[in-house]
Amino acid sequence: FAQDNVFKIGLILPMTGQQATTGRQIEAAAKLYMAQNGDTVAGKKIQLIIKDDTSIPDVTKRMAQELIVNNKVNVLAGFGITPSALATAPLATQSKTPQVVMAAATSSITEASPYIVRTSFTLPQASVSIADWAPKNGIKKVVTLVSDYGPGLDAEKFFKERLVFNGGTVVDTLRVPMRNPDFAPFLQKVRDLKPDALFVFVPSGAGAAVMKQFLERGMDKAGIKLIGTGDITDDDQLNDMGDGALGVVTSHHYSAAHPSAVNKKFVDAFQKANNNLRPNFMAVGGYDGMRVIYEALKATKGQGGGDALLAAMKGQIFESPRGPIFIDAQTRDIVQNIYLRKVERKDGQLYNVEFDVIKDVKDPGKAR
Ligand code: DHB
Repeated sequence: FAQDNVFKIGLILPMTGQQATTGRQIEAAAKLYMAQNGDTVAGKKIQLIIKDDTSIPDVTKRMAQELIVNNKVNVLAGFGITPSALATAPLATQSKTPQVVMAAATSSITEASPYIVRTSFTLPQASVSIADWAPKNGIKKVVTLVSDYGPGLDAEKFFKERLVFNGGTVVDTLRVPMRNPDFAPFLQKVRDLKPDALFVFVPSGAGAAVMKQFLERGMDKAGIKLIGTGDITDDDQLNDMGDGALGVVTSHHYSAAHPSAVNKKFVDAFQKANNNLRPNFMAVGGYDGMRVIYEALKATKGQGGGDALLAAMKGQIFESPRGPIFIDAQTRDIVQNIYLRKVERKDGQLYNVEFDVIKDVKDPGKAR
């Protein structure tokens, strides 16, 4: 393949540091997608260039700049956390390079550049359904505990608004630092407040630490339920959380236990290729993001620049391992089902077992 017959995807991920599981999951998913679908599309050889931004936004930005200027990538993808996605947005706009956000989930990200397309989810999307479920299930008085940055603030705001609308109350809104959080003092406070439940959002990879401290402090025995978005019962860690996690109810867009043929095939292939690692919601964002890129390349017959590729990404609709998804052409954000799930033991392993679904949920953050 001559250089102009190579289609380059610059995949920027946190491969080391606190968010490393996000990078590992998305890298594995992108490679699986390529292994299953070939590395030649519309006469172009697909080249994946993976960069570790260590989840430091200044590093993300520098890497994006290098990928655009030196490597001349056709598409930027990845983006493990919100600040990394936001730091890159102006570069995507200036260079007219589509930026496929596969992980970061603050609502406003898609508004930071007209070149951003998202295949992950948004925290408002995930948070409102659990706020509808809770008051119908005896949970009226809640304390929220979130990571103190974009997605956490979205989760807090949208959960609280909806719970109050449904007649519940949020008696305190606690925020923990995003980097190296110590949950202990916050959990002590929650114990003293004695709510019916604690609602938690922490980013992927931090859930197990929260669960451990929640149980160590006997919060469950004190009658406080743990609820949240599915980031807390992350499939990457869930199996190691132990029986204390049983019964935890969350709302989210993906469970490795999602009962569909497409998902079963995805989970089996992912585990086979990755030493039995279970794919989580980050993996599915990466896998679907690759599909969106491949289909845009096909639709433009390998001839499209950034604007043509972006146009071909808008409006895509297909069945993902998570269920049916749609890239809203107006917002460039993902429309998808949100599931209510409960942690159960199945075949000796812990899973988020889906028991209800809210179909075709648009990001509630976009309406305002
Ligand atoms: C973000 C990161 C996560 O790991 C997650 O689970 C949700 C959101 C973010 O930074 O946007």
